[in-house]
Amino acid sequence: MLELPPAYHFEVPAAHSQIMNKYVEMENCLFRCYHVDQQAISAIMCKFRPFLENVNEHSIIDDFIQKSHELNIQFTSNKGVDELPTDDGVIQAPKWHEILFDSPYIRILWGASMPGDEEPSHTHHWKSLMVILQGSTFEMKNPDGSIECDQWPIGVYELPAETAPIAYKNIGETEFKALRFEVKEMTKTIYKSQEASKYSKLSLLGEGTIYLSFRDLEEMIHKHPHTSSLPSLKVIDYGCGAGRSTRYLKSLGIAAVDGVDISEDMIYQAQQLDIEKNYQVISSGVVQAPDATYDLALMSFVTVAIDNRDEISKIFKELNRILKPGGQLLCLTLSESFWNPKRQWVSYKQDYPENYAPISGQKSRLFIKSINLELSDCYWKENDIIECAKEANLSLSSTHHPLGKVEDNIVWQDESQFAPYTIFSFSNL
Ligand SMILES: C[S@@+](CC[C@H](N)C(=O)[O-])C[C@H]1O[C@@H](n2cnc3c(N)ncnc32)[C@H](O)[C@@H]1O
Repeated sequence: MLELPPAYHFEVPAAHSQIMNKYVEMENCLFRCYHVDQQAISAIMCKFRPFLENVNEHSIIDDFIQKSHELNIQFTSNKGVDELPTDDGVIQAPKWHEILFDSPYIRILWGASMPGDEEPSHTHHWKSLMVILQGSTFEMKNPDGSIECDQWPIGVYELPAETAPIAYKNIGETEFKALRFEVKEMTKTIYKSQEASKYSKLSLLGEGTIYLSFRDLEEMIHKHPHTSSLPSLKVIDYGCGAGRSTRYLKSLGIAAVDGVDISEDMIYQAQQLDIEKNYQVISSGVVQAPDATYDLALMSFVTVAIDNRDEISKIFKELNRILKPGGQLLCLTLSESFWNPKRQWVSYKQDYPENYAPISGQKSRLFIKSINLELSDCYWKENDIIECAKEANLSLSSTHHPLGKVEDNIVWQDESQFAPYTIFSFSNL
């Protein structure tokens, strides 16, 4: 008999390869498409168990997997969280809505309703994938008092976000059982005020691991062959966020630094923290500046916020355009080894299931301890960034991996052996 990992809390009787394969496919789908944790996987697999263990019922699993991939959920760090409306199903009809998993991006509900059960009026505000595992017939009461009846058979259904509350009565003869994978689509696809405000709390030099992100930047700027004295440089901080990187550049004595970002809320925070208000909201990859304006461009933790390779190339091309000949682009990002779940970092937690064996462009999860902020950032290999720069006619001058040193006066964990960040220096010559 083949055994499943202990997390499933049960064994598959007389399992054969088709069943085992389906378990693996299903688990992969839950990890990849919904970024769920092991506990939720276990709970969801239990609900699907009768279908998983009967090869004749695998079509519903296949349908679920296909539709889950088609949802193409964007776990981008720049998504915000909408407040839970009071007419939400979990609030108004908790008996019929058990939360199996909840993250800023996804909520997975389990609902079971006995014949005769009446669910109070409620709404599901997010679009969802509903998997009906046991069907029944329902009577639905709309807000205007009108009543409709509908049969809900076994199957996988894509449901749009609801706009009005509906009351349900199970008028069938069977218990109704369903899983609902709700996708928390946000009205804005950019950093919202909550994240922007937390981000603005990061100290200028950064504590712990984050200190290594800027520690060596000054030296890297000096090393660039075409860099004249720092005060005379004209610099753009692309994706400046709450202005931490911009203010850092200014602290080096650079007088002319412009900060640009696609997030209004981030720019608002940047303006609050800097008496010089030279921050601007832009569209991605479009900077309102003439060709050859800047000596130096910095992109500090911006590529991790972009899940599309072409977008990175487009931004690099725009930066190349506005850099003076011989200008420098410094691109600071999380290193490949950052995501290794075995690494222990002073300031981050990153040992989440979805970070195992990431592929380029994949959303990976991290938690910044000091500001209590969980982000879903994109994993890119060093080579992806270098290739995008090549496409933009930027040539690689150097790649730097800052390691923790004794003189940093920080009790390092893995930082002294493995670099959490990569800093690329590109030239537009
Ligand atoms: C992690 S924050 C880094 C902020 C700042 N550079 C720092 O180091 O503190 C990433 C920033 O990149 C911005 N961003 C993401 N995609 C962008 C794009 N396509 N163009 C410009 N900015 C972008 C986000 O809005 C966010 O403010």
